[in-house]
Amino acid sequence: MSRTDEPDSARRNAGPAEGSILEIADLPLVETYGSFSGRDSFRDTCRKLFALPDVPFLRTPDGQLVVFRNEHLRTLSTLPAAGNMSPDALSAGSFEALRDEAAAPAGTGGALVRILANQVFFTNAPLHDPARRILTKQLSPKAVAALEPLAETIIAELLAEITDVGEVDFQRHFGDELTCRFWAALIGMTAEEKGALVEFVRDMSGMFNIDPTEHDVHVFDMAADGYGKTVVQAVRRAVASGGFPLVDAIAEDIKGLEFSDDPAIAGIVPRDAGDYLAANLVDAFHTAALGASNVVYTMLRHPCVLDRLRADRSLLPAATFEGFRLEPPVLHLHRYALEEIVFEGVRIPKGTTIMMCWGAGNLDPKAFPEPEQFSLDRPMRGHSTFGAGVQICPGRILAFMLAEKTLDALVSQDLSLNFKEGDCDWYEKWAMAQLKQMPIEIQRMHQ
Ligand code: HEM
Repeated sequence: MSRTDEPDSARRNAGPAEGSILEIADLPLVETYGSFSGRDSFRDTCRKLFALPDVPFLRTPDGQLVVFRNEHLRTLSTLPAAGNMSPDALSAGSFEALRDEAAAPAGTGGALVRILANQVFFTNAPLHDPARRILTKQLSPKAVAALEPLAETIIAELLAEITDVGEVDFQRHFGDELTCRFWAALIGMTAEEKGALVEFVRDMSGMFNIDPTEHDVHVFDMAADGYGKTVVQAVRRAVASGGFPLVDAIAEDIKGLEFSDDPAIAGIVPRDAGDYLAANLVDAFHTAALGASNVVYTMLRHPCVLDRLRADRSLLPAATFEGFRLEPPVLHLHRYALEEIVFEGVRIPKGTTIMMCWGAGNLDPKAFPEPEQFSLDRPMRGHSTFGAGVQICPGRILAFMLAEKTLDALVSQDLSLNFKEGDCDWYEKWAMAQLKQMPIEIQRMHQ
């Protein structure tokens, strides 16, 4: 077979041809062009880089490969060797020490690592697929459709609470509440637990600050500890009482995970549904809340879209797609080279952390002409908001549903939406596009 007959994946993993392979150290530093952290810097950096077709990849000062072009994100992520970080890689080899609560008490970073170690995002073969299937079974298109009435009820309740009361912060009073109330209902939390959880999730989101101070670490780690204990307690109570179908099914499926812990590669096996859900719902509480707010933010910045949606609600999926594309909550997350990979002429040594700038793929003009334009007429495909390949986000259908139902409620009621765009503010230096505040006044037009 000639080289040109080889499948794409084989060519990308082919041994280096002498002289034609770049090392990561040969690539420009991301700082040369800006930063992919923090929503505003991320957008400026995308503008600069997409005007420079000759810069395919970048690197960070500590040797991570930075991938930001749509096609590269989507093809690299399908290679089995571009896996997940393991608990050891997550904690720079100190997982065993952090695992011990006495040695690494809450507040030092240990609490967060102990929770995340049970997340599918920190597993690889042979654990990854069966652990992931436990979640995807509960979040299939059919399962998510069955959850629509719950979402509609909570959204209607929340809108009633924030309408005609003057200015509110949509992120705080709607987004954060939406996901906490939704999951509280599914895992049987009490009202007190739900109230505490909203605060824990908010404080815990500091984990996405790429340059935290010691104080920041203390705050998010204490919050992670509170979050973990609250979710685990609620889930274990739900398992004991029965009657919460999602929890019951997960508790049953966990019993089939017959693996040993392998912090170095395959990952940690969750002991029970409490550990599993506390880990895997971090983004369900946090990132899905940003999703709903960011999609609404995008729509409110384009009043003509609002008018078109009011006239034709069949455009809601297209508007939600564009909202997620233009204001993706995840700016970057990591993959990890489980083996050496040669990709598009760059050698990625085994053990390299790969910074996947998923948000940037959405602003790549090669994938989306005039990428900063909100268009309801684009084909609804090709965005990288939820990752790609076998690790694509298992919560994407649910997150999309929550955001679309939110838009639907806002356009189908007779509401005046006085949005204060100039007063909106985003966290800087965060791996997430997260609004610090999103002031809005919502009033009924006809009392
Ligand atoms: C707007 C909301 C969300 C966004 C933007 C988002 C985005 C992402 C991204 C970019 C990845 C990395 C995928 C990859 O490496 O290819 C990911 C993975 C993951 N997400 Fe989400 N996510 C969201 C909501 C959720 C929800 C609601 C859940 C759970 C119910 C969830 C659970 C996970 C898990 C467990 C993984 C790891 C998957 C794996 O390694 O196989 N996410 N998500």
